[in-house]
Amino acid sequence: MDGRDLVCSVKAGGSAGAAQRLRTVRAAWRRRRADAAGLPPRGAERARVPGPVQDVEPGPGGGIVRFSRSELRILVAVNGAVFWGWDGAGPEPSYALAGRCPEPDPRAVLEPDKDGGWRVVAERVTVAVSRHGAVEVRTPGGVTLRRDLPPRWWEPVGGGPARWKQRSEVPADARFFGLGGRASGPRLRDGAYRLWNTDPGRPFAPGDDPLYLTMPVQVVVADAATHLVFHDTSWDGTVTLREGEEGAGSGHDRPGTCELRMDGGPLRCWVMVGTPARVLLAWASLTGAPALPPAWALGHQHARWGFGSEQEVRRIVAGYQERGLPLDAVHLDIDHYDEHQVFTVDHERFPKLPVFAEELRRQGIRLVSIVDPAVKAASGNAVYDGGAALDAFVRDASGELVQGVAWPGEAVYPDFTHARVRKWWGGLYAERLAQGFSGFWHDMNEPTSFTAFGESTLPRSARHSLDERGGDHREAHNVYALCMARAAYEGLRELAPQERPFVFSRSGWAGLQRYGGTWSGDVATGWPGLRASLSLVMGLGLCGVPHSGPDVGGFDGTPSPELYLRWFQLASYLPLFRTHASLRAGRREPWEFGPDTLEHARVALVERRRLLPYFMTLAHLARRTGAPYVRPLWWGAPEDRALRDCGDAFLLGDCLLVAPVLDPGADRRAVQLPRGLWYDTATEQAYEGPGQVLVDAPLSRIPVLARAGSVIPVRGEDGCLELEAWAPARGRTGGGLVVQDAGDGWDEPEVERYTARWEGRRVIVEREGEDGVREPSHPVRVRGLTARRAQT
Ligand code: NOJ
Repeated sequence: MDGRDLVCSVKAGGSAGAAQRLRTVRAAWRRRRADAAGLPPRGAERARVPGPVQDVEPGPGGGIVRFSRSELRILVAVNGAVFWGWDGAGPEPSYALAGRCPEPDPRAVLEPDKDGGWRVVAERVTVAVSRHGAVEVRTPGGVTLRRDLPPRWWEPVGGGPARWKQRSEVPADARFFGLGGRASGPRLRDGAYRLWNTDPGRPFAPGDDPLYLTMPVQVVVADAATHLVFHDTSWDGTVTLREGEEGAGSGHDRPGTCELRMDGGPLRCWVMVGTPARVLLAWASLTGAPALPPAWALGHQHARWGFGSEQEVRRIVAGYQERGLPLDAVHLDIDHYDEHQVFTVDHERFPKLPVFAEELRRQGIRLVSIVDPAVKAASGNAVYDGGAALDAFVRDASGELVQGVAWPGEAVYPDFTHARVRKWWGGLYAERLAQGFSGFWHDMNEPTSFTAFGESTLPRSARHSLDERGGDHREAHNVYALCMARAAYEGLRELAPQERPFVFSRSGWAGLQRYGGTWSGDVATGWPGLRASLSLVMGLGLCGVPHSGPDVGGFDGTPSPELYLRWFQLASYLPLFRTHASLRAGRREPWEFGPDTLEHARVALVERRRLLPYFMTLAHLARRTGAPYVRPLWWGAPEDRALRDCGDAFLLGDCLLVAPVLDPGADRRAVQLPRGLWYDTATEQAYEGPGQVLVDAPLSRIPVLARAGSVIPVRGEDGCLELEAWAPARGRTGGGLVVQDAGDGWDEPEVERYTARWEGRRVIVEREGEDGVREPSHPVRVRGLTARRAQT
């Protein structure tokens, strides 16, 4: 949604729209003028490379290698992650790190390498630095996973931040993933990917890049090992990827390449090596454990821009209830605000919101509120007055308030990079809690300011505190939403200490998971948008943000019943299962698409509810291990190259493989299976992987396969927890983890471990404890005992 479209949404008629359009023109000019005055002109630049090595200074976990024109600091941390920074850059300060930089590993020491280079040998990785500053990451067995060529800087002759470029090579068989939320992944094909959080201004589809949530995190999967590399700089930049080719020209491998060009910021990175699970564990230990959602947030949620009144919300809720459809939350968009002003309520249309919220809560339905960062620039608006008194809003280089345009018209933007501002903003959620809201949906926080031309964001010259270091929007832009999420999370922890905050944010950066999740943003209604939805969730999960999901049905237009249903079915297996659409889009309620669609949607809703204990277990495991709920098929078998190229199916935890239908007219689909035995959960037909199989996918369901031996916690018909066990392959054993959660609060539940094994013709499920095995305390249902085995 952009400045051109927004006129249609302004509550008042045409003249209000015209006034808003005029504001966007003025804002665009203001932005241009601010940058012309506030940014240094790009004059002559001097290029620099590190030059030859001079000497070294060993230090804890590595040390410093000095070159004639730069120095490289290397540090291997106790969690196995490796840091290096050029020009003396250290790991801190960093918006990505959770707390302080991890301790150095005392066993890692700097030692001479061949040809005048240096290396640091650690348990899981060797980092070798050549005489001219190429840096290689090798496995303990000596295979090179990544080779960074000596970097190059361009420094403005008159001083100021240097641009830089870093070119790297990866093995010919490697595949790239990550870079935040990308619509055309999860495997990132050859091309340029920008690192600048961007509201595309219209519903997006694969090919639209960048989107709202970018981050300089690449996950690279190769035969020798998987590695995650994080370039810790929030400046604008571009990553250009090119996959390699084995046996290219005259039988030699052509390595894959990755070129990072950044407009500024330190050249520093973290690398983690190992299996995908190990890599994500190290990443979570560095950037923070994913926040645990309250149980209700893992249920079905219904949103719409245009729920204009309490009556309308009542009608939707009644629609669910009359049809016996599970519903856990309803979201109120900007139309519940008083004239689109954040932290207000239109009392005419929502006269007694706290009473209504309480009524819904008693029926098991929570209310979630949208929260936009832009504050209407008008004295008399309490948020504006409070923020102004605190000097909370972003100013330009000359000290004037930066004024942009958002839904309420002329608006100012809190500087969330200031601790004092975060504290103030976090306190404002008291008003939301008092209105009865339980969850918070951060929107427009790239940040977006509607402009008639140029970038729809704040001027790059806008000043930010950057936690007292001082800087401008070039550095603060990409971490703006991350800091807003922090403000909300920390505020809510204080305001409602017994409750788990539920915050999800359209934009963000590395570390967002500490505060909550995200969603697709305005994904275009259409089959490509459906595919993009899955790409985003998988890519973000690999970047450490496990909780996300799309707008079911797409943001705009009207999906066909088939498209709506396939979207609904996919999302029912994603962490955030939320129906949402634009003001002018067609309806999205399951009963609006005919009786067949309604019945199939009901099946998906009921199955989601049945799987809630499994989702909750995955949330706990994500918090403890960093493993996303939704994982690419190669997660447990990165050496299986066919799986690396497969982006149309995913693993949900260890136990389930979900193969959504992403094309129209399909009634079956090909599924690429990882090794092992898999059961179609609908037919109990068994398939042996690895390989490709054709599986039925009638409109009534999408293929979901269970790994043989899995023990899955589900909700039984009486609402109590049950274990669904899938017979292990003959001669094999299986098992599963269960975390029984109280639904909210901070009690630390135990991780229950179960095993499954054959005993004669029976499958026995037992609970493992420190003092041996015992009977499970939950009822067990074994499936797949009489499965027919299909040929793959
Ligand atoms: C843009 C968001 O992406 C969308 O979800 C929301 O409905 C609109 N803003 C209006 O608030």
